[in-house]
Amino acid sequence: MLLRLGSGEASFVDFRETAPLGASRDMYLDSLGNVIKGMSTLGAMAAGVPGTVAGLYKAHELHGSLPWRELVEPAISLARDGFPVSERLASSLRELQEYKGRFPGLLQFMKSDGTPLAPGDTLRQPILARTLERIALDGPDAFYRGAIAESIVEEMRLGGGIVSKRDLAGYEARIREPLRGSYRGYEIVSAPPPSSGGAVLIEILNILEGYDLRGMGFMSDQTIHYMVEAERRAYADRAQFLGDPDFTDNRLPRLISKEYAADLRKSITPRATPSSELSAGPGTSREKRETTHYGVVDREGAAVAVTYTLNDSFGSRVVVRGAGFLLNNEMDDFAIKPGHPNLYGLVGSEANAIEPGKRMLSSMAPTMALRDGKLFLVLGTPGGATIITTIAQILIDMLDFGMSLEAAVSAPRFHHQWLPDHISAENGAFGAYLRRSLVEKGHRIEDRTAPIGDAQAIEVRGSAACGMSDPRGDGQPGGVEPAEPGPR
Ligand code: DON
Repeated sequence: MLLRLGSGEASFVDFRETAPLGASRDMYLDSLGNVIKGMSTLGAMAAGVPGTVAGLYKAHELHGSLPWRELVEPAISLARDGFPVSERLASSLRELQEYKGRFPGLLQFMKSDGTPLAPGDTLRQPILARTLERIALDGPDAFYRGAIAESIVEEMRLGGGIVSKRDLAGYEARIREPLRGSYRGYEIVSAPPPSSGGAVLIEILNILEGYDLRGMGFMSDQTIHYMVEAERRAYADRAQFLGDPDFTDNRLPRLISKEYAADLRKSITPRATPSSELSAGPGTSREKRETTHYGVVDREGAAVAVTYTLNDSFGSRVVVRGAGFLLNNEMDDFAIKPGHPNLYGLVGSEANAIEPGKRMLSSMAPTMALRDGKLFLVLGTPGGATIITTIAQILIDMLDFGMSLEAAVSAPRFHHQWLPDHISAENGAFGAYLRRSLVEKGHRIEDRTAPIGDAQAIEVRGSAACGMSDPRGDGQPGGVEPAEPGPR
């Protein structure tokens, strides 16, 4: 959670999961050193020690103005009284059918006969409502030490996982300095490690600042080429250098410096640089998307940008019995073996190897942009590896191409993450002519049917805050009617 108070002071609440104390570097490898398929993604062994309850409480404790109980109440009502299932949710609930045999806890998201809920049906979660009531009453202690902790540990015993009482009691949300950079006169404030989000975003923008993107034109072959080359280099650095700052020297000052970006620009030519020339390593892509992002600006000008996640769709698929919530499969965000691609095709090395108590690297990038010290934009998205490039594109579309918030959030997206060495493009993002000239420059293009990201953004103009939810998702701007927006 990136947060900025009305006074302008910014801070960052890191409530990333941690590896359990019983975790070890090769825990997902067999005796021959091969990755055991599905072990870091399905079942109790995939779960990191959850951080959400501690993180949200920490933000409340430090900066909140309403009583904790009142803050949890809307979630309790949604769980107890239910809400109508949307088309998109229905389709993701249908995908759960194949897992219900192995993970019977998932039946709580289905009709009583085990068939999938249809659009318009009501999804009620009475057990989760009771869990939330406990959290409302006793705060994080209920979750990390009390009855809920007992349920988690019991679920671990039944499912062969290793999250222990000690892990839960020892979990702490951390306050960190947000990462800062700049782009064309705007200050960019974003997520520090253990997310790679801010660092990779700032590195991409620093490289691109040296090119006249506006002169090259929105979505022109040249603009896309330079954006892709910047993305390729920044993601290669992510794979090599980034990990939990409590365990790894991230070399951040250099990675996000303008000088380093200038050095990298020297290696960029009018032709695609094969990713294999930047550093060697295998990579494949398999994109999934299940993460939540929201932003809020209040009347005092305080703002938060929050991204949080179970990682994959429905996480490890394990529902904690008697507590009604899903466990994450965030352990897969570690480099479970050097060079082995995670769910998002991302590879990593030593810096992001598993160690007890360590936080796995993330791509989450809750971000704010400021102009002359004044809040201008609050921004974020889900999308795994594509989170960072989605944020970069929205910023570039607005700051280089002068697009409106609506147009920038709606614009077609493309993504390059070093490995696999291809541009992943949304359906219809590239026309035939553009495609040909990118291929002539040496790029490979992979079309994807699933959309990239689900961005949520707020633009502050004068005393008005205007929200925009990605047309790709189910989100909606909420809150009070904005005042007449001032000029940009
Ligand atoms: O922390 C990360 O980078 C991933 N666990 C985020 C996963 C994600 O965004 C999935 N979403 N759609």
